[in-house]
Amino acid sequence: MSSDRKHMYDFIRQLLSATANAALYGMLHPQVERLSAQAFTSIEVLLQSRPEVTLLVVGNELVIDGKPQDLGPFLDRFTQILTSRGVGAIKLLSGISKSEVDSLISGLARQQNDDVQDLISSEHIRLGKVDLNISTSTNRLLSDNSLAAGIKLPDMPHKELSHFIEMYEAVRNKKKIQINRVRDVVSGFINVFRQEGKPLLAMAALRDTDEYTFTHSTNVCVLNLAQSMALGIDGQLLNDIGVAAMLHDIGKLFIPEEILTKTGKLTDEEFAIMKQHPVKGARHLLETPGVPRLAVIAAYEHHMKFNLSGYPRVASGWQQNLCSHMTMISDFFDALRTRRSYREPVSLPEITAMMQSMIGTELHPALTRNFLRLIAGLNESAL
Ligand SMILES: [Fe+2]
Ligand SMILES: [Fe+2]
Repeated sequence: MSSDRKHMYDFIRQLLSATANAALYGMLHPQVERLSAQAFTSIEVLLQSRPEVTLLVVGNELVIDGKPQDLGPFLDRFTQILTSRGVGAIKLLSGISKSEVDSLISGLARQQNDDVQDLISSEHIRLGKVDLNISTSTNRLLSDNSLAAGIKLPDMPHKELSHFIEMYEAVRNKKKIQINRVRDVVSGFINVFRQEGKPLLAMAALRDTDEYTFTHSTNVCVLNLAQSMALGIDGQLLNDIGVAAMLHDIGKLFIPEEILTKTGKLTDEEFAIMKQHPVKGARHLLETPGVPRLAVIAAYEHHMKFNLSGYPRVASGWQQNLCSHMTMISDFFDALRTRRSYREPVSLPEITAMMQSMIGTELHPALTRNFLRLIAGLNESAL
């Protein structure tokens, strides 16, 4: 176990014990004070080597800094407590104080039917409430008449999109990725998402017939952002997940054009070359300064599948990042919405049925259910 993970697990274990004791004996009990001090030390040590750490509850899973954890009894208990308190995300920032840890313990120790308002964010402990209402507001947006008029890709933020297209051209010419421009595109999308009246999610389902990698990448980005926001993910992690989606297929730019644009079925040999794009992409991103680590990981893992039956092949027990699972889901959806020379775009009910049948085998269960809730409101007739 890495020392960071050990400190994190120590923190959770001590926090849990302190919470259980505080519920029984109150915050002033010496045992609570001792455990709280230990928890504070563990998290303080961890935050010396990094600015922040994020914990997310996704379904029944606990995800720490993007990595789903193997739940043992104490992580399981911790996840249950957070869920019962309506907490979907906790971000711990460096500079955290002992009194902030105390407040968290006292908030978690209260009975479930106490006022949930008691559990509030502080300067260095940010709590995200589970908010699945995005699907409701998205549904409302989707029923907007503007959909009937047909929204095309050029309606997206113009400046950001042209930057992105330029960037792809630059990589194709073996120049460097301008990561700041990718970040601009992603924050542009996040802003559009936040403004009501822009059915950005519907646009990803609309799908242009052209199979340009950048069209695909923007769609996967929008879908990843929608998934993340529905889980209460915000801030730097949200931005990094968007950037990772934008760059997930960057390795395709190193695959020969004739294979990429071939309309018929690929031969075994061609498919073997195509399957190299995750490794090529990850390697390229690794060598590019300023690219978030998450983007390198998602580029490498986005075809692995939940049960690791995809590619690249890895040892059993490999733990994929949450962002890779999300990208896999968005990627699968977008690929099926694409018109191919041999088939029409697959209908939404068909895609939903396919994804449901892949839950737990090829696709991550909780994330897929979250995604299906999001697209449940998309109206086929409007697309
Ligand atoms: Fe890919
Ligand atoms: Fe893709």
